[in-house]
Amino acid sequence: MILGELSPASLNPLKDKLPEHGGNLPAAAKAYNIPLSEWVDLSTGINPEPYPVPAIPAQAFNALPYLQDDFIEAVQGYYQQANFLAVAGTQTAIQVLPEVFNQNQSLPVLLPSIGYQEHKQQWLRYGSVIQLYRSDTAANMSHDIQQALQANPDQHLVVINPNNPSTVQVGLPQLLQWSSMLGRHAHMIVDEAFIDISPEGSLLSLPQSAENMLPQNMLPQNIVVLRSFGKFFGLAGIRLGFVFSSPNILKQIQQALGIWQVNGPAQFIATQALNDTPWQTAAKQNIQKNTQYTEQTLNPLMATFKVSPPLRHALFLSYPMSLTTALFIYNDLAKHGILTRVVGLDNERALLRVGSIDHLNMHATARLHDACEQLRLSAIGLRILE
Ligand SMILES: Cc1ncc(COP(=O)(O)O)c(C=O)c1O
Repeated sequence: MILGELSPASLNPLKDKLPEHGGNLPAAAKAYNIPLSEWVDLSTGINPEPYPVPAIPAQAFNALPYLQDDFIEAVQGYYQQANFLAVAGTQTAIQVLPEVFNQNQSLPVLLPSIGYQEHKQQWLRYGSVIQLYRSDTAANMSHDIQQALQANPDQHLVVINPNNPSTVQVGLPQLLQWSSMLGRHAHMIVDEAFIDISPEGSLLSLPQSAENMLPQNMLPQNIVVLRSFGKFFGLAGIRLGFVFSSPNILKQIQQALGIWQVNGPAQFIATQALNDTPWQTAAKQNIQKNTQYTEQTLNPLMATFKVSPPLRHALFLSYPMSLTTALFIYNDLAKHGILTRVVGLDNERALLRVGSIDHLNMHATARLHDACEQLRLSAIGLRILE
């Protein structure tokens, strides 16, 4: 039974006003008239326990930010690749890739139907012909990409691996097979923003053996790998990301972006974080604990709404449900200062994506628990059922 506030008509205005990106607390604070400092932000997949930022030497602010040797070494050590381009967040690279890859010849591009929408926006902005493949399950994704590349190998291919928000992840042999199907001028862009927690799934971890015939430290020439620094290290605000590809492609991206992409403080912080293996090991465990805690806290609420178990990534949970229910839960939690994210799949279905909470933050966990419990009880009271 759908009652009162839960009717699609009353939630429609909310649907049109949903923020384009996660983490927009200033907008939420205005929309719900709750001061910024009181929000618990679960609308992103950013680690809620960030790398502790060290004291930054004045020199890092004072000097022009040419890449420092210790920064370069830290990047090469963490990602195990010699060739890279450091950028102010992978978003900046995503913005220029359509231009870089269409310089000589304009090719269509295959994109995931569910996934970080900026890829699609940027290819559309450039005027590229786009075709969407299903990215809700690995089987659908493989089927659609295989079929599309067999029909026309002269297309670029964008893969978000693992996918945010559907969590679908494909294996390295599958990625290599797709890259081998591409025509001479086509490229495969693999966005690995959420892979740090399981780096063995990264293309950067390919064993440099005769088996896959990769020369030392080299990806196949037609692959570009994007690695976001902000998610795993919980430092999205310093705007840092990396692009890995052949020297020729990196040079073209660099030319499109210009010099001094990564500021001095960001280089200094990242150098410490990328070298800090003990912190990284602990973070992997803490992230799992935080997300398990988040799921346990949400379980009773989701059970009341008869929502199926979530699609799980270590840094976020995506609950499949009707768009109406997603908007209702989103709106009610937001009234309590808890920000989640609704990802519409079509006019009727959605994913409610919930980032992980720091389970040691007593204030935030109590707020989440209370908000979920109040909504659960009022839903039972109203007999709101899916
Ligand atoms: C899949 C994916 N790729 C890339 C980005 C861009 O991140 P950044 O510019 O911080 O590296 C995001 C941000 O949410 C994302 O979800």
